[in-house]
Amino acid sequence: MPSHVTAFGPVRVNLIGEHTDYNQGLALPFAIAAGVTVEAQLRGDRRIEAAARDVGERDGFELDRVEPAEGWRAFVRGAAGELLSAGVELAGASLSISGSVPCGAGLSSSAALEVALVLALLAVADAPQPERLELAKLCSRIENDWVGAQTGLLDQIASLCGEAERAMEIDFRTLEVRPVAFELGEFKLVTLDSGEKHTHAGSGYNQRRAECAEAAERLGVASLRDATLEMTEGLPDPLSARARHVVSENGRVRAAVAALERGNMEELGRLLDASHASLRDWYEVSTPAVEDVVARCKRAGAVGARIMGGGFGGSVLALMPGDAAAPSGAVEVRPGPGARVSAS
Ligand code: GLA
Repeated sequence: MPSHVTAFGPVRVNLIGEHTDYNQGLALPFAIAAGVTVEAQLRGDRRIEAAARDVGERDGFELDRVEPAEGWRAFVRGAAGELLSAGVELAGASLSISGSVPCGAGLSSSAALEVALVLALLAVADAPQPERLELAKLCSRIENDWVGAQTGLLDQIASLCGEAERAMEIDFRTLEVRPVAFELGEFKLVTLDSGEKHTHAGSGYNQRRAECAEAAERLGVASLRDATLEMTEGLPDPLSARARHVVSENGRVRAAVAALERGNMEELGRLLDASHASLRDWYEVSTPAVEDVVARCKRAGAVGARIMGGGFGGSVLALMPGDAAAPSGAVEVRPGPGARVSAS
């Protein structure tokens, strides 16, 4: 049995397909190099002792009595609690958590933390690893039931199923994950943090999700995946606008896959711009700080730029000609491998 393990959960970039995951829609994310690392040392008792290095805080609890908590502690307790509920025989461990991404920046630091925690706890207990989509669902329950954010499966699947040089087209109705070659030719993708932090539990995220559920119910469909643009016209506002975003965004994901396959970067840029306009005007998740960053990217020559992730702040994704100087603070991103564990 390994007594010391290191697990890494990468964060994701979502090329396109925002707020579609909990509507059984489509998205096109990929994992990147940045993420969260959890080191676990076997203890020989039934305690979890966790240290969050970046904030200099600690938490400790007995595995036989896992109670809810706030902030980063909710993730650690949720990871242990959900694994125990799934019947995994956990072992006491000391955990050291550190990250290379800011929290609340729209890059899915929450999912990266969940994934790294779960993989570390499984490995240090020498428990078999469930298959990746099962792990993604378990991680998502941590966020839904322990952290209080009714997020979907986008971030967890991207973190767990990432592949170098490939984006993945996810169909959230079937949970099929299809690799898509990521070739940008003479272009590059960058992310730029607006500096405005959000937590999904505290922003309008849960409200958007509830609005989509209500729209689907009024339309008599199982999810907005089954709605058409024509159907959305009969809904009252803001439900009509929310549904219009979701339906049109699914179409943009398909078009983006086709544009990538044809190497048509101008078309991909136009789709990013259209996604942003839809998220700003119909889904209403943009903010003045985000709009400033989008405008900076466009002034720097971006062929497309959009708000990324849950919204209400966070980061902007921009597609730029390779020789254009990106705005200061921008980070170039490309697909990297998914979550991994090593023993020592
Ligand atoms: C957050 C959530 C995801 C997804 C996106 C919006 O990142 O965690 O489940 O809903 O927002 O696309």
